[in-house]
Amino acid sequence: MANIFTCLLFSWLVFFVFFPYNKSMIKVEKKVLLKPFTTLKIGSTADFFTLVQTETELREALKWARAKQQKIFILGAGSNILLTKPFRGLVIKNEIKGWRIIKKTPTFALVEATSGEAWSHLVNFTVQNNLFGLENLFLIPGTIGAAPVQNIGAYGVELKDVFVSLRALDLKTGREKIFSAVACRFGYRDSIFKNKYHGRYFILSIICKLSLRPQFKLAYGTIREELKAAGVKKPTAGDMIRIISKLRSSKLPNLALLPNAGSFFKNPVILESQFKKLQFRFPEIKSFPDQPNKVKIPAAWLIEQAGFKGKKFGSVGMYEKQALVLVNYGGATANEALKLVSRIQTVVKKKFGIKLEPEVNII
Ligand code: EPU
Repeated sequence: MANIFTCLLFSWLVFFVFFPYNKSMIKVEKKVLLKPFTTLKIGSTADFFTLVQTETELREALKWARAKQQKIFILGAGSNILLTKPFRGLVIKNEIKGWRIIKKTPTFALVEATSGEAWSHLVNFTVQNNLFGLENLFLIPGTIGAAPVQNIGAYGVELKDVFVSLRALDLKTGREKIFSAVACRFGYRDSIFKNKYHGRYFILSIICKLSLRPQFKLAYGTIREELKAAGVKKPTAGDMIRIISKLRSSKLPNLALLPNAGSFFKNPVILESQFKKLQFRFPEIKSFPDQPNKVKIPAAWLIEQAGFKGKKFGSVGMYEKQALVLVNYGGATANEALKLVSRIQTVVKKKFGIKLEPEVNII
């Protein structure tokens, strides 16, 4: 009798103590279509696909990929990618969500947000709670984790203006590392994670420093005129996001109606000497000051001058109100998009001698 009792107790112990640890927490699916997970609605399949909601699940997914010798690809909101071929490996969809205020002083607050959270949710939270600094970045699609990779920016503000640090997992060693703003080597739509550390780190969370006093950036484009036209003398964060929202919707297509990935190309930065020569041939050419001796040329202007604005090529085209945005009119293929990209690059190069670099990640 005592033996049976010991046996039963032992099996219960095995079940409760060991079983949960042996059971895999993640669910890996096979042959998953990636198109629905991108805002451009273009994409083939992934051999394997899993969704992670916690850092423990992430580590589990990485362990799975290592054991099965599969490559990995981290997917956020899919708002800045053009998927051109099937992915032979494990796609890890990052859904590690959340944010919290980690420090508050009389003048600023530090907010930490996890990488799978939507960028726009963080902006909404800060605007509602009088934490200032992110207003101009309102409505940018994508996740927190993708924001530092390309140093997102709009209307005269970039992530780097409020960024303090990020926590990332080294996919090679499994160790965590903190990157300061300097260590991230931010540039225009650029960081160390696009270059030297491309594919090396999984960004876990970021910390931003936000002001408790309004400090709005009004210099870009028509922000000031819009505020004046709306009769606003002393803008609030609410006024700012209303104006930004108006400016965005007047130029950028609604993602729900017309799939796109935002600006498809970067604005090229060229030498002032090259600009002077171009200005001689094209007196109406636009430019913005950049680094010393260099100027930024609006790619949208170049594409428009090259005759692509509002033009449709099969199921793809460059948006009628913003020539920099490649749109999918329905059922577009990666090939169609690639063909258009290369056509634009060729014509712009021939006409202006400038090479347009994609801003969207072509995978
Ligand atoms: N322009 C044209 N034709 C057009 C559109 C614009 O000639 O069809 C010229 C105008 O002279 C305009 C200038 O280009 O003054 C700049 O246009 P805009 O203010 O729309 O900005 P952008 O340089 O085309 C950048 C970002 C956008 C961001 C806006 C506003 C890049 C690659 N793109 O676009 O970001 O929303 O500024 O700040 O830097 C994104 O990255 O996905 C994105 C949408």
